[in-house]
Amino acid sequence: MEDDKSGAAFKDAAMKTHEEKYAELLRKREQALAPAGQAAIDRQHQRGKRTARERVEALVDADSFIELDQFAVHRSTAFGLDEKEFLGDGVVTGRATIDGRQVFLFSQDFTVLGGSLGEVFAEKICKVMDLAVRTGSPMIGINDSGGARIQEGVVSLGGYAEIFWRNVQASGVIPQISLIAGPCAGGAVYSPAITDFIIMTEQISQMFITGPEIIKTVTGEEVTFEQLGGASTHATKSGVAHLTATDEDEMVEMTKALLSYLPQNNLDDPPRFATDDDPGRLVRELDDIVPDSPNKPYDMHDVIVPVVDNGDFFEIQPLYAQNIITGFGRVNGQAIGVVGNQPNVLAGVLDIKSSIKAARFVRFCDAFNIPLVTFVDVPGFLPGTDQEYGGIITHGAKLLYAFAEATVPKITIITRKAYGGAYDVMASKHIRADVNVAWPTAEIAVMGAEGAVKTIFRRDIAAAEDQNAKMQELIETYTERFANPFIAAQRGYVDDIVEARMTRRVIAKSLDMLANKRVERPKRKHGNIPL
Ligand code: HXC
Repeated sequence: MEDDKSGAAFKDAAMKTHEEKYAELLRKREQALAPAGQAAIDRQHQRGKRTARERVEALVDADSFIELDQFAVHRSTAFGLDEKEFLGDGVVTGRATIDGRQVFLFSQDFTVLGGSLGEVFAEKICKVMDLAVRTGSPMIGINDSGGARIQEGVVSLGGYAEIFWRNVQASGVIPQISLIAGPCAGGAVYSPAITDFIIMTEQISQMFITGPEIIKTVTGEEVTFEQLGGASTHATKSGVAHLTATDEDEMVEMTKALLSYLPQNNLDDPPRFATDDDPGRLVRELDDIVPDSPNKPYDMHDVIVPVVDNGDFFEIQPLYAQNIITGFGRVNGQAIGVVGNQPNVLAGVLDIKSSIKAARFVRFCDAFNIPLVTFVDVPGFLPGTDQEYGGIITHGAKLLYAFAEATVPKITIITRKAYGGAYDVMASKHIRADVNVAWPTAEIAVMGAEGAVKTIFRRDIAAAEDQNAKMQELIETYTERFANPFIAAQRGYVDDIVEARMTRRVIAKSLDMLANKRVERPKRKHGNIPL
């Protein structure tokens, strides 16, 4: 009897009251908000970075965030981890809305073990990725991490691979955006690399496969973190970053602007916005934009910007391979993906980098139902051993492949040069653009006049008394005969020749015409794009 009594007493003492249970929840919630303590948060701020939660808060609509797995903790006992508990295991995950549209997100918490990824951390990310796909919602990952959690060993490598696999399955199904707001190193970079867009903060974030220390040991090169993998490096040299932000506020603005052009998923259309910009507006300044001399450059931005609604052009990879322009705009409120050769840089020639840049952009637009508008002024592919040895054949073919496989509405405007293979590649009628128009200044030919006459009249020029005069005469004849849009128009390769000022009107009407475009393709597992 004695024993029974003491047993009951023990039970009573252990039983928590309703109030105590609620208080415990609050205490744990409180603890989860700063799992590594205030000092760690202060250190994060001293590094010039926001915390994982502050980042989520800054990005999403007020009160829209529903957090998942706030109480998840690691299961590791190695290297003293059994004595440490961090609620949430170093990553904040959940669902929220941005401008009223649902997204899923994760935000890595550098204050917990350097934001390193272990088993539970990975499981949390996988859970939100699965929900994003299941509900057809964009996925946004905020990266700030020391990489694989060293104490968890191969388990963390497995966790990464689970994420990579999901990135691949989600590719072309939901938009995936990576924000790099701190270190992102080693194999960890491959998750962002598979996502559609990478935005980096300047001076704060880095991406690299192997760090400066290892590089020094292996190759002897000395390089700083920033030089190796900073935002500026990836925006200008490698092309890994699509956008760079001066600070986290700008990163938020960029992310919101980017999302505004994107649909929720591949079965959805991008949101349409009411606009007060008349779709029939004439853009008179375009009539004078193309210089009389074919060798004089002009800025293709000066064509694109006045054509899109309210001049809002959201450029992607603005600092990389600047001989081609890629970006989003709207015409009559409808999102479009714009590709434009840039005569101002390398005469707008296609080379390895510009082909890859534009090909990826075209494929993104095609996957997510964003019509393509292509502005063409291209003298051809860049000649040279650098290009040939670097595989321009394969890389140039990527752009050809991307335009040819795209089934979204495709509208092409030839402003000036459309020469040679590049004419075919740049969304020509033959690779199934829907509407192709040329300005009166267009020159659609196998090559420029000088190159052409030097090739086909080499002997006549050599035999002439005044070789220069002969060449000039032949150039004039060639220009008269070929360097114009009429021959292409006679054959229906361009549907119309329009005054440049009509461009916005033509695009708006074409988008209406193509609104219900449907294309059936033979069944196949997937094509084999020349990678
Ligand atoms: C466990 C880690 C960690 C990691 C950092 N920390 N990286 N803990 N696993 N990978 C911890 C640190 O021990 C430290 O803990 C805290 O996080 C903050 O790190 P600091 O070094 O003080 O910060 P900072 O000076 O800002 O330097 C950040 C850093 C550096 C550049 C990321 O920590 C670093 O180089 N970490 C190692 C990076 C790395 O080699 N990771 C593995 C890469 S391989 P305390 O307790 O002192 O605060 C990889 C493979 C992925 O990731 C494979 C996928 C297939």
